[in-house]
Amino acid sequence: MVQSTVHRSSPAQTLIQWHKPFIFGEITAPFLLHQRSVIPKREKSFRVRHVSSTIKAVASSTEKSTTVKVVVTVLATAGGLLSNLGLTRGLDDISDLFGRSLLLELVAAELDPKTGSEKKTIQGYAHRTGNDENEVKYELDIEITQDFGEVGAILVENEHHKEMYLKNIVLDGFPHGTVTVTCNSWVHAKFDNPDKRIFFTNKSYLPSQTPSGLKKLREKDLTLVRGDGQGERKAFERIYDYDVYNDLGDPDSSDDLKRPVLGGKEHPYPRRCRTGRPRTEKDPLSESRASNVYVPRDEAFSEVKSATFAAKTVYSVLHALVPSLETTVLDPELGFPYFTAIDSLFNEGVELPEIETQGFLSVIPRLVKFVSGLGKNVLRFETPEMVDRDKFSWFRDVEFGRQTLAGLNPCSIQLVKKWPLKSELDPTVYGPPESAITKELVEQEIRGFMTVEEAVKNKKLFILDYHDLLLPYVKKVREIKGTTLYGSRTLFFLTPSGTLRPLAIELTRPPLDGKPQWKEVFRPSWNATGAWLWRLAKVHVLAHDSGYHQLVSHWLRTHCCTEPYIIATNRQLSTMHPIYRLLHPHLRYTMEINALARAALINGGGVIESSFSPGKYSTEISSAAYDLLWQFDLQALPADLISRGMAVEDPTAPHGLKLAIEDYPFANDGLLLWDAIKEWVTDYVNHYYPSETLVQSDQELQEWWTEIRTVGHGDKKDEPWWPVLDTPEDLIGILTNIIWVVSGHHAAVNFGQYDFAAYFPNRSTIARTNMPCEDPSEEQWKNFLERPEDELLSVFPSQIQATKVMAILDVLSNHSPDEEYIGTTMEPSWSENPIIKAAYERFSGRLMELEGIIDARNADKKLYNRTGAGVVPYELLKPFSDPGVTGRGVPNSISI
Ligand SMILES: [Fe+2]
Repeated sequence: MVQSTVHRSSPAQTLIQWHKPFIFGEITAPFLLHQRSVIPKREKSFRVRHVSSTIKAVASSTEKSTTVKVVVTVLATAGGLLSNLGLTRGLDDISDLFGRSLLLELVAAELDPKTGSEKKTIQGYAHRTGNDENEVKYELDIEITQDFGEVGAILVENEHHKEMYLKNIVLDGFPHGTVTVTCNSWVHAKFDNPDKRIFFTNKSYLPSQTPSGLKKLREKDLTLVRGDGQGERKAFERIYDYDVYNDLGDPDSSDDLKRPVLGGKEHPYPRRCRTGRPRTEKDPLSESRASNVYVPRDEAFSEVKSATFAAKTVYSVLHALVPSLETTVLDPELGFPYFTAIDSLFNEGVELPEIETQGFLSVIPRLVKFVSGLGKNVLRFETPEMVDRDKFSWFRDVEFGRQTLAGLNPCSIQLVKKWPLKSELDPTVYGPPESAITKELVEQEIRGFMTVEEAVKNKKLFILDYHDLLLPYVKKVREIKGTTLYGSRTLFFLTPSGTLRPLAIELTRPPLDGKPQWKEVFRPSWNATGAWLWRLAKVHVLAHDSGYHQLVSHWLRTHCCTEPYIIATNRQLSTMHPIYRLLHPHLRYTMEINALARAALINGGGVIESSFSPGKYSTEISSAAYDLLWQFDLQALPADLISRGMAVEDPTAPHGLKLAIEDYPFANDGLLLWDAIKEWVTDYVNHYYPSETLVQSDQELQEWWTEIRTVGHGDKKDEPWWPVLDTPEDLIGILTNIIWVVSGHHAAVNFGQYDFAAYFPNRSTIARTNMPCEDPSEEQWKNFLERPEDELLSVFPSQIQATKVMAILDVLSNHSPDEEYIGTTMEPSWSENPIIKAAYERFSGRLMELEGIIDARNADKKLYNRTGAGVVPYELLKPFSDPGVTGRGVPNSISI
């Protein structure tokens, strides 16, 4: 603990206490008034002068000292309303009036060389000096004696009754220049929590290089953030801790909403932020649900930024639009009677009833429009980009193949490395493992080109393989009304022009209800029945791909797996640690959007469960995917491509990789972004870690990595593939991996959701009915032959499912007005370091180049996977974007 030393006082005691401008104190002293009562006689001559009309005071001293002006900038809300700032009118106005609202305590960076203890801190009240629409200023003039040395930290006590959002504290007047303390943080009211907030200056230090006077404070700050793992977290707290996903179900409201705990041996899963809510009554393993889910205070930006726009729009859709739709559409299973009824969602729209939640709907003007003629709100969808360019592209096989490389889920396609195709599942449970996609069948499709063996050898066969992941869930899912499931394999052939041509789809049902395994292969066909069956089989596969995209490529691999990185970074790396400062912009806003997802998207009965094929087993499947497929090392783009057979190492090729499909837009653009991130991270890491020893001896860093591996991803802690962290290269690899996932990977799977999936015939989230050829009755088969279009419409989502998903995809694809794109915002601590500043400017420059390169690629007529008649160009990895649904733009972090 910081040593208490003799307090110096001033004749200010003769004034009313509110005017006391500064006091020397100790770091841990919680109450100033109590301290002052024991303040001994003054040691040196200090004088306080009351400046009329400005509640400001200036100190002077008889020893050599500097007068420093301290200016605290407090942010008002996004709307500029001071009342929303957290300042309670009344009591807090009185505090401001008498200048007792913000107590600052300056901490010397170095220990006192004479005593070896912390130097006395300098305290003083900052006075409110003015405000404009966006900011409120608090100021303090303070004298700092020469022997105090450099200021290393400032402690802040908020005497208001409500929290305040501190942007920064600037100290002006030192001979060596301005000192800035960037806060960007909520400071709790001292009435909620007597601990003072600790803010370090913008200089970054490895733990071993921490200035002597700050070492204990550095530790103390981390201890506070870790909390004690007890009790229910309160909204004003900033404690980061771990828990399992035990809050997805709602067993107290219905037995049908009981859900297994995700996280642990049975259902491995990453950890989420602990909230400490009480357990449910019916299931002691489940945590009760709440309308407001705790996230550490600075993760919830609702009052500060319009980046919150993202959270607000999602919230509005979930809490206002979806319930509103549910009252509009009485029969939840009602499908679309004609194709034109689907089109009407984009033309006429759906009239919304007037319900209590209407106020929320004004937040989503893109979706909900007031039609004055009707006097009502109408939900009307914008025409998605791909439909706008080519209304019928969804029907074509060429587009089906193209989207596996340049669509919404470009991370599932893989090379066929072994032939014949075979399941690894237990044949006694799931039936014969051999695929029905035989050599003969494939050779009929690629007749004239080559044999299957040659095709495999020459890397011409590719596959979407959802067989072994989904087959174990088929029986369970088929017990749910209104949905169905198969295991599936889709085989593609790489044409000489570099596009993928679908050859065959195999759908499999395991032995079920006394019936043997059923599997059938569908192919593009030249007779009407075969063509319709092929069309229907594609709906099933695309529903599998949609589910995998949303639950694995998107939710699991980005949102969910990132939460442990955020928790560990805050618990183990001091805010003055250079790696904390590198990662912080990439980890912002994610926990809040994840909490929202737990509350209303992936929860029991939520949008995902009610609209995706696997129903209530949806998140369980993401747990199975985490168990079977997720590896930290394979989140790195080059390793991911290699593991899927989409690339091999080649030192002579660009990025050191030779792609199996040259025109693979996600990989081509992604590797450029990956390289740019890696170069920036390399510059940064090499600056702070010029030697291996520094990495190995950095206790905070080592604890950080250990905690990610053994706690946040603890269910995978014994896996052999975790990278070690011994050298700067190891660190560069780990950090590049994390930053790529939250920026490039997330953007690639997130911001095209509306353009590619809102017109659900292109990729339905659910296939509700079995293939008409699976054990059909005579009547069913006859109906199919007579009205195959009815069969297609009945396999598609119901009206309520489709509209809910479309609305969600719209807001999830949206960039907020102040989105922070990668490479655009220099953190204050980086700009103060010329080497880091130059490296970041280089990074920004490379990203600007990337924009031009991607544009040029999209204009290259030979690249059929990204250009052509009616084709949506591949822009998802273009770094920058305007606000809105644009299908491009790579934000720094996962904020939606
Ligand atoms: Fe997302």
